[in-house]
Amino acid sequence: MTDSKPNAPSGDTDVARLVVEQNLASQEDVDQCLALSAKNNQTFAGTLVQQGVVTERQMQRIRARLEESRQGTQIPGYQLLGRLGAGAMATVFKARQISLDREVAIKVLSRKLSENKDYVERFYKEGRAAGKLNHGNIAQAFDVGEASGYHYFVMEFVDGYSLFDEMEQRRGKPFSESHALRVIIQVAKALEHAHIQGLIHRDVKPKNIMITRQGDVKLVDLGLARPANDDAAAKAEAGRAFGTPYYISPEQIRGEVDIDFRADIYSLGATLYHLVTGRVPFEGATPVAVMQKHLKETLVPPDHINTKLSAGLGEVVETMMAKERRRRYGSTADLLIDLEAIAAGNSPPQAHKHITADVLSGLGTESKSTPSPADTVELPAPTDHWKLYALILAAGLAVSVLVNIILLLK
Ligand SMILES: Nc1ncnc2c1ncn2[C@@H]1O[C@H](COP(=O)(O)OP(=O)(O)OP(=O)(O)O)[C@@H](O)[C@H]1O
Ligand SMILES: [Mg+2]
Repeated sequence: MTDSKPNAPSGDTDVARLVVEQNLASQEDVDQCLALSAKNNQTFAGTLVQQGVVTERQMQRIRARLEESRQGTQIPGYQLLGRLGAGAMATVFKARQISLDREVAIKVLSRKLSENKDYVERFYKEGRAAGKLNHGNIAQAFDVGEASGYHYFVMEFVDGYSLFDEMEQRRGKPFSESHALRVIIQVAKALEHAHIQGLIHRDVKPKNIMITRQGDVKLVDLGLARPANDDAAAKAEAGRAFGTPYYISPEQIRGEVDIDFRADIYSLGATLYHLVTGRVPFEGATPVAVMQKHLKETLVPPDHINTKLSAGLGEVVETMMAKERRRRYGSTADLLIDLEAIAAGNSPPQAHKHITADVLSGLGTESKSTPSPADTVELPAPTDHWKLYALILAAGLAVSVLVNIILLLK
C-alpha cells in the first residue's frame, strides 16, 4: 500500500494512488519510484517520468485531475454532483444548492487565477453586476465566494449542450440561415439586456452559448471577469489547446482597455459567420496568425462562401465584424432590429443607414462624429470637386435606372 510509506508527502500519495487507479503502473513500480525519489532527493512525479513509468503527458493529466479534485472538494452550502467540464480558466461542477434544493453549476477558478489579487477583485465586482441581471437567455449568476483558497462562481445549471457541441456534431455543415438566426437573435437579446446595464461579456463564442433540452438559448459566463490582458489570455488558451482566438475582436487583440459592447457584437458576428458558412472567419496556422488576420485581413463576405445566404445576412455580418468599432452597430438594439428584419425576409434597415452614412462621409460631409459602422463600402475620399460631381451624377443615374425598372415592372 502506498499509504504505508510514512514519509511520502500527501501530494505524492495522491499521485501514486491515481497512477495505480488508472492502471498506468503496478503498485510495485510506484513503490520503487517513491523509494528512489526519497533516496535521490528528487520529486516523485519527476522520478515516475524519468523511470519511464508514466509519460510526461500522462503526468500532466494526473496533475490536472488532482487540482480539480482539490478545487471541488468542499464548498459550504453545496453538494457536488460531478464534473461538467473545464476551460482555460476554471473547472465547472454540477452541484446541489442545499438551502434551495436546486441544481446549479459552479465554476471554480484555477489556482493561478485564484491567487491573482487584481483578477479576484474584478471577479467579485463583475459577479455582483451579473447578479443584478435577469433575462431568460442568460444563465443567471447566483453567488460568488471562496473556499479552501479557490474562488468560485455559482450560476444556473443549463441542462443541455453547447452550440460548439452542436457544430462539432454537424462536422462543418453550415446551419441554415433561419436556424442560425434563431440562435443568434436570442444571444443578441441576452447581450442587449447586459449592455444596457453596462456589462460586457468579452468572450462570446460557441462554447459559451448553451442550448437547453427545450431548445432555448442561454448565454453563459456573463459576469465572469476575464484576465486583464485578453491578448495573453487568448494566447495562453490556444497554447493549452483549448481553442484558438477565432472570435476575439481586434480591439481586444490590441489590448485596449476601454472595451465596450461593440467587442461583443464583433464576437457574435464571428460566431454567426461560423454557423452559416461552416468556417471560422479567419483561419491560421497559429493563434498569432489568426489574430493578425482579425486585425488586417479583409473578411470574405459569408454570402460569397455560402451562396444560399441572403445578401442582407452578408451585410449584417460585415457590419458586426467591421474592424473599426465605430463602423459597427451603434447599439445592440440596432443590431436586433436588423437580425429580426433579415429573419423575416426583409433587408436590414440599420446596416443600410450606416452604408448611407458612410457614403455621405466619403463625399466629404461633416459626419465624422457619427458612428458609421459599415466597413464594406470602400469609396475613395474625393479631394477635388469634379470627383464629387461625378459621384452625385452616378448616384442620380442609378436612381433614375431604378425608377425606370420599377415603372417597367408595374
Ligand atoms: N451554467 C452551466 N450549466 C451547465 N454546464 C455548464 C455551465 N457552464 C459551463 N458548463 C459546461 O462546462 C464546460 C466548461 O466551461 P468553461 O466555461 O470552463 O469552459 P469553456 O467555455 O469551454 O472555455 P473558457 O474557459 O474559455 O470559457 C462547458 O463546455 C460546458 O459544457
Ligand atoms: Mg465558458
